Amino acid sequence: MLATLGGKLSLGGPRVTVFCGGHRLKGRPRLRRELGTSPRRSTVMPAWVIDRYGPNQVLRFNKNVMFPIIHYPNEVIIKVHAASLNPLDITMRSGYGAASLNMSRDPLHIRTKGNEFPLVLGRDLSGVIMECGLDVKYFKPGDEVWAAIPPWKQGTLSEFVVASGNEVSLKPKSLSHTEAAALPFVTLTAWSALINTCGLQKDNCAGKRVLILGAAGGVGTVAIQLLKAWGAHVTAVCSQDSSALVRSLGADHVIDYKSENTEEQLKKLELFDLILDNVGGSTENWALKFLKPWSGAKYVTLITPLLLNTDRLGLADGMLQTGITMATKTMKHLCKGKHYRWSFFAPSGLSLDEITQLVDEGKIRPVIDEVFAFADVPKAFEKLERGHSRGKTVIAVIQEHK
Ligand SMILES: NC(=O)c1ccc[n+]([C@@H]2O[C@H](COP(=O)([O-])OP(=O)(O)OC[C@H]3O[C@@H](n4cnc5c(N)ncnc54)[C@H](OP(=O)(O)O)[C@@H]3O)[C@@H](O)[C@H]2O)c1
Repeated sequence: MLATLGGKLSLGGPRVTVFCGGHRLKGRPRLRRELGTSPRRSTVMPAWVIDRYGPNQVLRFNKNVMFPIIHYPNEVIIKVHAASLNPLDITMRSGYGAASLNMSRDPLHIRTKGNEFPLVLGRDLSGVIMECGLDVKYFKPGDEVWAAIPPWKQGTLSEFVVASGNEVSLKPKSLSHTEAAALPFVTLTAWSALINTCGLQKDNCAGKRVLILGAAGGVGTVAIQLLKAWGAHVTAVCSQDSSALVRSLGADHVIDYKSENTEEQLKKLELFDLILDNVGGSTENWALKFLKPWSGAKYVTLITPLLLNTDRLGLADGMLQTGITMATKTMKHLCKGKHYRWSFFAPSGLSLDEITQLVDEGKIRPVIDEVFAFADVPKAFEKLERGHSRGKTVIAVIQEHK
């Protein structure tokens, strides 16, 4: 993966860092220096880290985390103004995905530390570019940006973070940092499921009937808005108390999964062209019968056994088991004229550029469940772990006055 990000720089030693240190690079680099020698800041920063996997108590505030370093010429260092949490942060805190993710982590970090710790969680950020690598053409220090950092990298619950320029985009002007941080990871996940996995786009979506299971959470609330922006007809499955919320986001029909049997309610409706499943578990045992058969209709789920299998069985056997499961399920449903798919979050600055435009046009807005101060990160984890999210849990790393 990292190989695609450009060659590693070796300018005299492993910790050497290369900067353009100013605006977009024109001709010769102005300056090459070690990050730690910058007179503008110290070599350490505050961050929430974990030193082992486990329950919430493993979260530790550390004022002396090593400042991030630009290792590749297309990387940028961002000062984080706001971050947000996803269910992935809860599961990663407990070790979920470690077997696969450690394979993709920076080998230098793993080699010098002997393991992945201290690990910084948090995938979303909204903040300001501080430094740019030599190949960074689209950003300059001072730019307000947003990004979702892939889970094999150090996360965003820290004062500064290093990201590939490919993962970053200029943040929507219409949102504050706190608002913007609610969107990148969940929107890119919905984007990946709807566009990359299911082939939906703004010009082929009009009138398509889409069912969203788990419509009131982080992914569901943005998926409704994306689909409505492209003209689809959306049926949202959520609990009664989120009915007004999902309707306000544009859902055409709402099904309360708690008060009445979901299947019975769905039987009364027309069949669907697409089902987006944000819930998992038993849902895939019954949901596919509500797809139009032999019409190209697709069921896409975000809940997959890939990382659980690699954690349990190791990388090779886990991947093999996952491949077998996926092929078996795909074939089983294909025989009935229905497409069964798994989908995953995909980091992408380019997709975020398009999402920025949709936000600034007023077609997508963040849905924020609760905002926590940086000092209260463990409380934010506890809140998310209790479930029943209505949009996103945001961390104001820097308090904003809007
Ligand atoms: N594959 C990937 O790369 C990927 C990426 C992002 C997320 N995910 C996964 O996708 C899932 C959704 O993510 P998220 O960020 O949207 O989570 P979230 O913000 O925690 O939202 C989940 C929502 O589902 C609702 N819910 C629970 N059971 C339900 C049911 N039976 N029917 C309808 N709604 C139900 C919850 O509210 P109530 O309980 O109050 O109804 C909550 O609103 C998570 O499991 C996450 O791990 C996967």
